[in-house]
Amino acid sequence: MCGIVAYIGKKLAQPILIEGLKRLEYRGYDSAGVALLGGGSIRIKKTSGRISALEDVLDEPNAAETFGIGHTRWATHGQPNTVNAHPHLDCTGKIAVVHNGIIENYGTLKTWLQNEGAHFASQTDTEVIANLIGYFYAKADSPEEPMNSEPQTKFEWAVQRALQELSGTFGLAIVCSDFPDILIGAKKGSPLILGVGDNEFIMASDASAIIEHTAQAIYLADNEMVTVTPDGFHTKTIENITISKELRQIEFSLEQIELGTFPHHMLKEIFEQPKALATCMGGRIDPQNNRIKLGGIDSYLRDLTRTKRLILTACGTAFHAGLVGEFLFEHLARIPAETEYASEFRYRNPIIEDGTLVIAISQSGETLDTLSAVEEAKERGATVLGIVNVVGSSIARATDAGVYLHAGPEIGVASTKAFTTQVAVLTMLAIELGRRRHIRSDQAGKYIEELSQIPDKISQILSQSDHIKQIASENMDQENWLFLGRGFNYPVALEGALKLKEISYIHAEGLPAAEMKHGPIALIVDGMPAVFIATAGPQYDKIMGNIAEVRARGGKTIVVATEGDENIKQHADHLITVPFTPEILQPMLTVVPLQLLAYHAAVLRGHDVDKPRNLAKSVTVE
Ligand code: M6R
Repeated sequence: MCGIVAYIGKKLAQPILIEGLKRLEYRGYDSAGVALLGGGSIRIKKTSGRISALEDVLDEPNAAETFGIGHTRWATHGQPNTVNAHPHLDCTGKIAVVHNGIIENYGTLKTWLQNEGAHFASQTDTEVIANLIGYFYAKADSPEEPMNSEPQTKFEWAVQRALQELSGTFGLAIVCSDFPDILIGAKKGSPLILGVGDNEFIMASDASAIIEHTAQAIYLADNEMVTVTPDGFHTKTIENITISKELRQIEFSLEQIELGTFPHHMLKEIFEQPKALATCMGGRIDPQNNRIKLGGIDSYLRDLTRTKRLILTACGTAFHAGLVGEFLFEHLARIPAETEYASEFRYRNPIIEDGTLVIAISQSGETLDTLSAVEEAKERGATVLGIVNVVGSSIARATDAGVYLHAGPEIGVASTKAFTTQVAVLTMLAIELGRRRHIRSDQAGKYIEELSQIPDKISQILSQSDHIKQIASENMDQENWLFLGRGFNYPVALEGALKLKEISYIHAEGLPAAEMKHGPIALIVDGMPAVFIATAGPQYDKIMGNIAEVRARGGKTIVVATEGDENIKQHADHLITVPFTPEILQPMLTVVPLQLLAYHAAVLRGHDVDKPRNLAKSVTVE
């Protein structure tokens, strides 16, 4: 949610910032801007719209400008117009700031700064940061505000003083025209990474903007700041305590974040699922010995085996994966489990008793609602495990232990391979707990064997992409859709509806199929698409009844069924098949046609599937 990038080194800053912003564009894309330094002044260019719009208003790069900061915005405070776009200057014009996060006390600070004579041009909370730094900068030489004794510039001191007054979250890159070779970064609640190259540094919200330049980076923790010059950097807390940070290797390659031959990241990531799942399960499943080994949580397995209650918490697609997990833990391990929206969990005075264990699920590891739920659960004494994709992310660090998805970077705003790998991790954990608590070892072994076949079975489903595109093209003009499933496939129905909504802007509702008759059946009109997941399993006959109810009212049925099911043909207006797998493993298969359906519908309707309207990839605000 908002991407920030900064460069300081010997090369021209402008093209590096633009390239970095393009890589970060999935974090927000409603306005963008850069501030460039060279020759003692700050030159700002910004505009509403995407990075391509910013490129249109940029001047030729100036050879002296080897230092700058940039931003791509997802609006929180103030409309996405040019004035509200970042960077923001303080009212002296000396301090420029780009910001990811939300300043909660910005209203009070703004009024106070206005009384002190500051002027504001925008409606943003970020301009308050710029003016607050400017305020302390002006005070730096005054006797009432003594600078701390540690040798530092008045620019650093002013930044520290300002940050100490802020509540809320920030990832910040800050420059000052009086210090044309100092870049300051700071973090609280929003990610910030400093890439360390040969005589050059690139700072960014995530590693995708850095990897082209260097694979070495430091990851700032909350309340830490970094001061960077072309010759080096030092790190401190915002309370001015010097700290040392470990240089770490960025774990993915440039190739993994490029489109290759695919037109969209979402399609690439849908097609990457066989590989992502194979990597996710590789070394973790052992079909020969009926065992599963999840190294990251080895030392917690005893606690997990004895646990009395599991709470899974997450948002969006990860929440749907959590719902599948709830079914798995209860069915295989007989552990009572419940899945909570992270945004609700933290505010509902949750009951965490002895024996309650919390599992937080997140692709990005930066979703603020989920991170806050983790913190809430920990404060209440729970052990919290994480199922996270991004290595070293805030949730990965905040949890006691966890399992990484190893799905590779997910760039498309619509989450796809993260869902299937999240479900795979939950399935592996539930099978292992099941083997220790409830099911026989040979039964666990059968599931493990079936699990190992999932990647190939997904490949078979992917070969139906053109057929699914045809179904999408015949139905894409319908503005209301239903997605219906039962049991393990009920969360998949929710996920199918979410995918369609977020990228094609078609209104869709996901429901447990039997709930339809308690109200939503009233929505069905002639030709309305109803997507059913009617795969082989204990509820097959029941869902056939639900299909008949829809058809009797003129609805059009798009049915996902098991290969070889001859009976279903007469009940489906459109049929998509998936290979057989036991019911508990089906979500990893049945979700794939729904991802493709949403993708093709969105493309056919002319939408930018990787950058859907009003959305951003990682939601780092509440
Ligand atoms: O990074 P996370 O998994 O924590 O993100 C959670 C949701 O914001 C995310 O799944 C969102 O719902 C996606 N856009 C869905 O495709």
